[in-house]
Amino acid sequence: MSPTPLLSMQGISRQYPGVQALLDVDFEVAAGEVHALVGENGAGKSTLMKILAGAEDRDSGEIRIDGKQAPIASPQQALHLGIGIIYQEFNLIPYLSVAENIFLGREPAGALPGFVGFARMYREAQEIINGLGVRLDVRAPVHRLPVAGQQMVEIAKAASQQARIIAMDEPSATLTDHELQNLFSLIRSLKSRGVGIIYISHRLEEIFEIADRVTVMRDGRRVGTCPVADLDRDEIIRMMVGRDLKEKISKKASPAGEILLEARNLTRRGSLENIDLTLRRGEVVGLAGLVGAGRTELARALFGADPFDSGEIRLEGRRVRFRSPQDAIRHGIGLVTEDRKALGLILGMTVRENITLANLGALSAFDFINARQEKETAHRLIRDLAIKTPSPEQEAQNLSGGNQQKVVLAKWLFTESRALIFDEPTRGIDVGSKVEIYRLMNRLVESGVGILMISSELPEILGMSDRILVMRQGRIAGELSREEATQEKIMRLATGGE
Ligand SMILES: Nc1ncnc2c1ncn2[C@@H]1O[C@H](COP(=O)(O)OP(=O)(O)OP(=O)(O)O)[C@@H](O)[C@H]1O
Ligand SMILES: [Mg+2]
Repeated sequence: MSPTPLLSMQGISRQYPGVQALLDVDFEVAAGEVHALVGENGAGKSTLMKILAGAEDRDSGEIRIDGKQAPIASPQQALHLGIGIIYQEFNLIPYLSVAENIFLGREPAGALPGFVGFARMYREAQEIINGLGVRLDVRAPVHRLPVAGQQMVEIAKAASQQARIIAMDEPSATLTDHELQNLFSLIRSLKSRGVGIIYISHRLEEIFEIADRVTVMRDGRRVGTCPVADLDRDEIIRMMVGRDLKEKISKKASPAGEILLEARNLTRRGSLENIDLTLRRGEVVGLAGLVGAGRTELARALFGADPFDSGEIRLEGRRVRFRSPQDAIRHGIGLVTEDRKALGLILGMTVRENITLANLGALSAFDFINARQEKETAHRLIRDLAIKTPSPEQEAQNLSGGNQQKVVLAKWLFTESRALIFDEPTRGIDVGSKVEIYRLMNRLVESGVGILMISSELPEILGMSDRILVMRQGRIAGELSREEATQEKIMRLATGGE
């Protein structure tokens, strides 16, 4: 018999209107174990973790810690029982500092009773952050950090709570290789102290690197639990999607057309320096580089979201200066952002409204035919992208993380833009849906669209790009053709040497 597990969840069920998010799920974690949780977008992974963290109610089922019934009815109770969680959608307070976020609710006391010991809080927060091997000013407000930085704050917060069980819901989605290795060494040290870790990720290679066991979920049910050593990648995928999946990333060869979008000497002090770039019709240009290299800044400048100091942007040969993203959209430019919460989605609006939002100018609300067309198009995109939602009228905030990302994509596919800028388009998207997205990208470029794709996933960059631009420290460090590009060459350009 195996010893009493650290955590045991049994018969957990949860229903939402129109969705059985979880059905009779059993899940166990041993002390010192890294237990991976995988499954397609909407399979129920986050819901299970939210129930564990007391952030979501269950309809039935039991949770035991050390074999004892655990009364988890609120996040406070879960925290008290030693459960820490890193949420997929961050839970940080934007205008508080990094340190205040890390210690929220447990700020160290100051010299005077009732006051916070800021000096101590900053010092301890800085130690935790340094321990993660990242450079972050703990006094900076969180909203000023890039997404990856915010992710590190979430991780630091959970790590500092002295939790016995830590659930990480896609902690790696925004991290670079270097940061990922720091996270893994943190996980190993937590593990050696007997902490039980639940690790959710769509990047299966990480599961093989860090996890001891894996539980696969599909449609709210547990399909199986196995030691990672007993499975290979294809077997996990088969359990996840219920069929074989020949995952192929490849851009169809298509002749590049005339120049669509062009940047010359684009400079924004402090973030972009003399950027030259061309994007042609029918072309996918990959933009590679480390987090912080300026890729998102470039996308924002091209999209009119940030101003630039010098240089110019041309659209089909004509010089343009977008005053705002709306202005860029009117000119046929679309941007799929990495930060879907801040820029991509309006969470309180329905899936259909979100999809049709960017194109409202083209659709008059009083035009009966257009309203119908709008509905039909929304339906088609929901089907094409396999967006898991009970209806187009579901609020976007009720969708799983990966399905929200698909809505952001659908929105730009709907606008029929001429040039699309994709910033980490498949972040948080399951393996099966990724293939669908690549297929859609192929369809788009075939119809003459040009796509500028920022991605930190090298297989995606290599598979989908006709040309690859590598950025480093705000500059274009080099360009590689599809034929000559390799992971090593990209990394060498991205890091500036050996
Ligand atoms: N508050 C809610 N209201 C209605 N439906 C919900 C709510 N929260 C989750 N769901 C639904 O429950 C199902 C499971 O969602 P969950 O977020 O657990 O999926 P997931 O496995 O974490 O997916 P992903 O990989 O995309 O993050 C989805 O169909 C989702 O739309
Ligand atoms: Mg999730």
